[in-house]
Amino acid sequence: MKSIKKLLLPICLCFVLFVKAQSNQPLIIIKTQHDALVFRENSNKQLSQLYFGLSLNDSNDYKIMKPNSGDALVTGGGIYNREPAIEVTHSDGNPSLQLYFASYSVEKIDGNVAVTHITLKDSVYPVVVTWHIKSYAKEDVLEQWTTIENNAKTAIVLNNYASACLQLSKEKYFLTHFYGEWASEMHIEELPLPEGIKTIESKLGVRATNYDNPSFMLALNKPADEETGEVVAGSLAWSGNFKILFENILNSRGMDNRLQLIAGINPYASNYTLKAGQSFTTPPLILTYTNQGKGQASRNLHHWALNYGVYNGRVARQTLLNNWETTFFNFNEQKLTSLLDDTKKLGTDVFLLDDGWFANKYPRDNDKSGLGDWEVNKTKLPNGIGYLVKEATEKGVKFGIWVEPEMVNPKSELYEKHPDWVLKLPNRPENLQRTQLVLDLCNPLVQEHAFKVVDDLLANNPSIAYVKWDCNRNMTNAYSPYLKDAQSQMFVDYTLGLYKVLERVRAKYPNVEMMWCSGGGGRAEYGGLKYMQEFWPSDNTDPVDRISIQWGYSYFFPSAVQCAHVTGWGKESLKFKTDVAMMAKLGYDIPVNNFTPDELKFSQQAILTYKRLQPVINEGDLYRLQDPYSKERAALEYIDEAKTHAVLFAFALYPLNGDIFPAIQLKGLDPTKKYLLKEINLSDETKPQCKQSGSVFSGDYLMKVGLNAFLTKTLTSAVIEIIAQD
Ligand code: DGJ
Repeated sequence: MKSIKKLLLPICLCFVLFVKAQSNQPLIIIKTQHDALVFRENSNKQLSQLYFGLSLNDSNDYKIMKPNSGDALVTGGGIYNREPAIEVTHSDGNPSLQLYFASYSVEKIDGNVAVTHITLKDSVYPVVVTWHIKSYAKEDVLEQWTTIENNAKTAIVLNNYASACLQLSKEKYFLTHFYGEWASEMHIEELPLPEGIKTIESKLGVRATNYDNPSFMLALNKPADEETGEVVAGSLAWSGNFKILFENILNSRGMDNRLQLIAGINPYASNYTLKAGQSFTTPPLILTYTNQGKGQASRNLHHWALNYGVYNGRVARQTLLNNWETTFFNFNEQKLTSLLDDTKKLGTDVFLLDDGWFANKYPRDNDKSGLGDWEVNKTKLPNGIGYLVKEATEKGVKFGIWVEPEMVNPKSELYEKHPDWVLKLPNRPENLQRTQLVLDLCNPLVQEHAFKVVDDLLANNPSIAYVKWDCNRNMTNAYSPYLKDAQSQMFVDYTLGLYKVLERVRAKYPNVEMMWCSGGGGRAEYGGLKYMQEFWPSDNTDPVDRISIQWGYSYFFPSAVQCAHVTGWGKESLKFKTDVAMMAKLGYDIPVNNFTPDELKFSQQAILTYKRLQPVINEGDLYRLQDPYSKERAALEYIDEAKTHAVLFAFALYPLNGDIFPAIQLKGLDPTKKYLLKEINLSDETKPQCKQSGSVFSGDYLMKVGLNAFLTKTLTSAVIEIIAQD
């Protein structure tokens, strides 16, 4: 016994000494309502991540945690052999960066938001990296980004310049990521992360989210579902190439199944030179942690998006009628005037004139010519856009217009005048997609051109209320004539150039509603949403496909930012199509004059219903109740913050004959409140489906027992309003 005591004493002493020794180093605790990210300087004088998860009641408890010897923001070229977050080559050729903790400060923005700036310095080379972590307390969201400063007298080259780096130490990791292609966006794949590296990335340059979305959900220890499980969710706010890397260092001795997550601009073909005295700021990774499943992770991100992340996030979106699928390029003034009448009749706020309204020498009568020549086409519209805007105003509707300022057809006056304004490789043939090329937005003159496309329209027609900004190809054979021998900056400088244009547009036109479109869902990300209120999720508007596509986006983006139009795609009933579109931001792109009187009446009512319920549907909390993948049905619910008003959307897809679906248990209601169920979006031809419509139930009952809204007939749907009774 004595000998054990003898043995234990030095061990205990060591432990106390260790805690004491460590406690002199500053703890950097970044807290939100429920979460904490904690750093501390380690014995190597580097910054070490101590903890990320639910915040501890007593912050002294963080002191017990042992900082590891590595750097929290992993650098390359030195002693560490894993993927680096930051890697720099100095002018003498030294390819290493070794960052040591220097200081930190906290900038309080208001009662909810604060930014912690952590300064890290190389001990030999005058390179300073500041790691910025912005906390949104109520939303449980952190934004991480970095600034790299070159204080040397000579240039350095950034080989890797990530925004965020996170170290996790769990037994297992399950990654959910979202992939697809044109008209087939946001497929969901969940996989256990094996040992090694998995990346989610884009090299498309523009239209960057066409294949992979820069967002992820990472379940810790075991797969998470909607309500349970630890989840880290993230989304990178950048409209260009991105890379989110998960390096699973499995069972390495002493490393206890560590996962290193690095996210930021894709360094692919993008070594970035920082001249003496220059600095580079990376785009933010939006991050949340919860132990209450993917549903809560989504709600956290939605709250952040509506409160902070999206331009005019909480301003109600306007409904619109688009002419694209009704006319394509084939229209004239008379046709458009009749569509203005249809807009009024239908009751949407805006008429949106799509592609085909411009270019004269090479008229934009199809996608092969005219792109870049933004004068109104005199044959189609002899009285100009101004006339249409005036007509719209007189008819009591607002006017919106389509532009694609970043692109050009070779068959255009713009291309004839400025062949050096396009991205194209010397000594190689041009590579066309949709018969068009990408303009060189690295070039300030081209930025000016892109700004003027929008500025001319809006300055000459101040009542234009809506702009759809399109982008219909990605980069290939890309080379910037402007950048000359600095080609490896092209991908980054293009995106920065684009943001410069959007900054100017927003500074001058703060109230115009703008849609970010990219030949379908090529720009579904938060970098663009800083300027745009919404994005176009997919050219595929078949309602069955759209249920899954919108479902996928809902993991990261609130319904307010997802444009969903009722169109001619799919053979489903108008009600089914409308119910699907109403789950997001409702709009129309369909020949209204083909509607039967009943269809018109139904649609007019649906628009009024959507506007009435917009605060609940677009700003309420989302609960995904039945996913469309595992069963032949889907259901989701939105509920307002006060828990007084909810809307349930339920869809039967292709059930087998005789399928009986269980009741849908609602979520997020107040168990003590009574709620009236009311089926809506009905017409003379669409009879109510929910037998309990008109009855009152307690929130407790609706959450524990549920309601029978699942239909058994193929491609049928029900929308049920759930209204708290006083
Ligand atoms: C692609 C978009 O996704 C469509 O909605 C339409 O605007 C066309 N471009 C126009 O060229």
